[in-house]
Amino acid sequence: MPPRFYLTTAIDYTNGAPHLGHAYEKVLADVIARSRRLKGEEVFFLTGVDQHGQKVQQSAEKEGVRPEAFVAAVTAKFVALWKKLGVEYDGWAATTEPRHKQCVQQLLQRLFDEGKLYKAKQGGHYSVRQEQFLTDKERGDDGEFGPEWGEVEYREEENYYFRLAEHRDWLLALIDAQEDLVLPAFRRGELRNAVEKLGGDLCVSRPKSRLSWGIEFPFDPEFVTYVWFDALLNYISFAPGGYDPAARSAEFHRWWPATIVIGKDILIPAHGIYWLIMLHALGFSDHEMPRLLVHGWWNISGAKMSKSLGNVVDPDQLADTYGAETLRYYLMSDISTGKDADFSEQRLVERFNSELANSLGNLLNRSLSMSHRYRDGMLRKGETEGPLRGQASAAVTAYQEQLDGYQVHAALNAVLEFATACNTYVEMTAPWKLAKDPERAATLDHVLYELTESLRIIAILISPVLPNAALAIFAQLNWQGEMSFAAAEWGMLPDGHQLGKPVPVFPRIESATAG
Ligand code: ME8
Ligand code: MG
Repeated sequence: MPPRFYLTTAIDYTNGAPHLGHAYEKVLADVIARSRRLKGEEVFFLTGVDQHGQKVQQSAEKEGVRPEAFVAAVTAKFVALWKKLGVEYDGWAATTEPRHKQCVQQLLQRLFDEGKLYKAKQGGHYSVRQEQFLTDKERGDDGEFGPEWGEVEYREEENYYFRLAEHRDWLLALIDAQEDLVLPAFRRGELRNAVEKLGGDLCVSRPKSRLSWGIEFPFDPEFVTYVWFDALLNYISFAPGGYDPAARSAEFHRWWPATIVIGKDILIPAHGIYWLIMLHALGFSDHEMPRLLVHGWWNISGAKMSKSLGNVVDPDQLADTYGAETLRYYLMSDISTGKDADFSEQRLVERFNSELANSLGNLLNRSLSMSHRYRDGMLRKGETEGPLRGQASAAVTAYQEQLDGYQVHAALNAVLEFATACNTYVEMTAPWKLAKDPERAATLDHVLYELTESLRIIAILISPVLPNAALAIFAQLNWQGEMSFAAAEWGMLPDGHQLGKPVPVFPRIESATAG
């Protein structure tokens, strides 16, 4: 039985349209899922949308529509974008679905029955305008709550609390014991520091009087569930096999634990503290804790993307302008997983033109053209060994190592370096000179075979990031062989193989912004 890999991402908040950060995370996960499949693993890739909460309720009110209608419209935008970008998931987590609500309610009931939830009255500073309680984090440098909060009053409210703090020492020990709990490693240190400071419990309810758009408490209809407590549970409510707290299915256990791809802003406290402790309280053992893969942020000229700054980049429009795979390539090559990057449309164009159009596209075009010009497109597989075989195998190894560490940009770099080596090989061997010398016919056959076989392997390696381009290269090679790492072995193209005609796969982008 092949190994199984359960991959999920954060579910996107449906308060507004998808932005570049959302697209990055989903393409990253899609690339990881595809590359695991190339390895021969069985993959279940879950993503979706986070549909409840205060901000959704407020946005719907502002537009004068019911929250159901509001989230349906925003959700449709996410679904359409993933289709356009080739993000192919196996499961769709939408938190208003009955399957999810039922799971959240069952778990709330169970935690309540076991005394892990309790009701308490607490008072605090409340912003009437923002309809939320404020903490010291919301205070300005002068120690006061700024004008953005409007009138701030002292309020007392009854709510349900989840016993979070009593798990502090367990979580510290887990973080110390499990080196790969959080990737990259430096985030683990940040998490540990935050857990050390953990004091209070977590308020997991909201009175319906101020928030109605949420999952109702099963044992107290006056309350709905705090949106994070609801949203985090999607990773189990939508897991393959489904999660039934009473009888955990064998299917669930074949897939769990998940690897969860999230951005750096939601590690602390949401995933690194709340989620891990929720699982622990639900009886998940230390071996059943998920892996958290934490990526960085796309910024705009060093600044955070935000609606109020008006610098939100629309991935849908970028895909329409430059093509979905151009955007995928840019998002995967111009950032190092875990770190932040600055978005630049000019770099998007430049990277495509230099790496895909000039280097890889040119290699494909000239190799196939020469095979047709000198050999009518017929490959001869001789006995001689050339340099590209060893370089191909080194590229495959480097590529896989980088992907195993989720460093997609470095994996792509290994492929691009190999394409450059192939182009250098063309210059060095000068097939146009070999073609003029009948005594060197065997050498020419050999050079053409090496180039073509290299292209077949390159197509396999780029396929997680550029699935359509990879298929287009296979089609031009007239090759219906396997797209898998196992097939990235040298020498699969047989003697006498007839190649297809070259058609540009990466036509240069001519654009005013290309500089
Ligand atoms: O946080 N660059 O949803 P969200 C890269 N619903 N990634 C970014 C980004 C940027 N500029 N901006 C956001 C939520 N992200 C919750 C999650 S999970 C149970 C609930 C990432 O729509 C962000 O880090 O605000 C997160 O991983 C994802 O996009 C969704 O963010
Ligand atoms: Mg967010």
